[in-house]
Amino acid sequence: MPVLVVNVDHVATLRQARMGIEPEPVTAAYMAEMAGATGIIVHLREDRRHIQDRDVELIKKTCNTRLHLEMAATGEMQKIAGEIKPEMVCLVPEKRQELTTEGGLNCIGRETELADYLAPLHAKGIRSSLFIDADPKQIEAARATGAEFIEIHTGHYADAKEYAARQEELAKILEGIRLAQGIGLKVNLGHGLNYRNILAFKDVSGISEYSIGHAIMARAIYVGLDRAVGDMAELVRTFAD
Ligand code: PXP
Repeated sequence: MPVLVVNVDHVATLRQARMGIEPEPVTAAYMAEMAGATGIIVHLREDRRHIQDRDVELIKKTCNTRLHLEMAATGEMQKIAGEIKPEMVCLVPEKRQELTTEGGLNCIGRETELADYLAPLHAKGIRSSLFIDADPKQIEAARATGAEFIEIHTGHYADAKEYAARQEELAKILEGIRLAQGIGLKVNLGHGLNYRNILAFKDVSGISEYSIGHAIMARAIYVGLDRAVGDMAELVRTFAD
């Protein structure tokens, strides 16, 4: 059964808007777990614009489910991940000026570099995922790195304004899922997913996790975090195995 992992970065974004102490992402992570999240995700960015080091440390200590750490493939992040030991790291590309992660990681021609980067983390028992576009060449390259999972970037699908473009992006993702599963990769999906557009994946089997942040936090403003997480977790639970 696919599960929901909740990204709490936006709770930290709100806190950092005042550089204060609230809202507290550690509390939000705990509440998300109580509301049905199977895991918590944080993205520790190099510029520390939202999640801070202490958030990762505290969530790791207090988390009752599992913590996934999104991060750029830098030496600093490798060291932090090795110390914190999240359940899984998800490597993402990072640009200083971007509003959010804009595209997938480039794995083509970087297979050995990424394999070498992941090896010490694997040796510590940390699982790995690569956030990539649904591009067959990227998927093949991702497999060559030895990562256990890929997370297929659903943002282009989610952002497409026209029906035809949306269907085109969806078709690429569905093809990517088939290809990845066929060569032994486990598949997660994430970015831009909300309570409506996620329904396109309802009958797609073999998805491990849905990684969702923005839509849940946006809804939480109106209905509360408990219900916002609970509704999404319940939705995902009805999806194909
Ligand atoms: N997956 C990855 C790799 C991401 O970078 C993000 C955004 O931090 C998400 C999933 C969650 O995306 P959203 O906040 O749009 O649900």
